[in-house]
Amino acid sequence: MEPRSQAHSRTQMTEYVLPQHANALGGVFGGQIMAWVDLCAAICGQRHSGRQCVTAFVDDLKFQQPVRVGEVVRLDARVTAVFRTSMEIEVVVEGEDATTGRRWPCVDARLTFVAIDDARKPTDVPPLLLDTEEVRASQAAGEERRAARLVRKK
Ligand SMILES: CC(C)(COP(=O)(O)OP(=O)(O)OC[C@H]1O[C@@H](n2cnc3c(N)ncnc32)[C@H](O)[C@@H]1OP(=O)(O)O)[C@@H](O)C(=O)NCCC(=O)NCCS
Repeated sequence: MEPRSQAHSRTQMTEYVLPQHANALGGVFGGQIMAWVDLCAAICGQRHSGRQCVTAFVDDLKFQQPVRVGEVVRLDARVTAVFRTSMEIEVVVEGEDATTGRRWPCVDARLTFVAIDDARKPTDVPPLLLDTEEVRASQAAGEERRAARLVRKK
């Protein structure tokens, strides 16, 4: 399979926080952020693999600062490493005050997605195009994280 670049699948989403997204404190409910993270990463994984994908694993999630009703949630997903049928995808989430342009960190998440064929079995995905030093380092770091995940799985 032909390698695909990070740019091929990079996925950005923007969500406006409405009252139905909020918890009792007026900030976005954590589960809503997690749903947007999962969606953004799934689109990214489908763009890279050209297949339907399922979420196999979510690394630790740290909520850094809240985003409140009337503010904006920006999500930016990219494939950080590719294995045989699975892909590691990082989603960086920021809050934004659209009236001032101020932005702040909200969540940094890593998820593993598996590409699925028509029989719903894991299927091979194109390798990541290792065209820069940054992407090569990202693939190497992803391979180390994957080894740790699979140890935990056992
Ligand atoms: C994810 C799933 C397809 C893996 O199936 P499986 O029978 O374990 O398949 P395999 O053992 O062949 O593993 C397939 C790939 O998943 C990876 N994988 C499986 N479990 C993993 C885990 N906990 N963490 C990281 N990677 C994992 C394997 O390393 C392998 O990757 P590789 O081919 O790149 O080496 C299966 O467990 C599943 O369908 N889970 C439910 C998914 C789901 O419902 N998600 C929520 C809705 S989208």
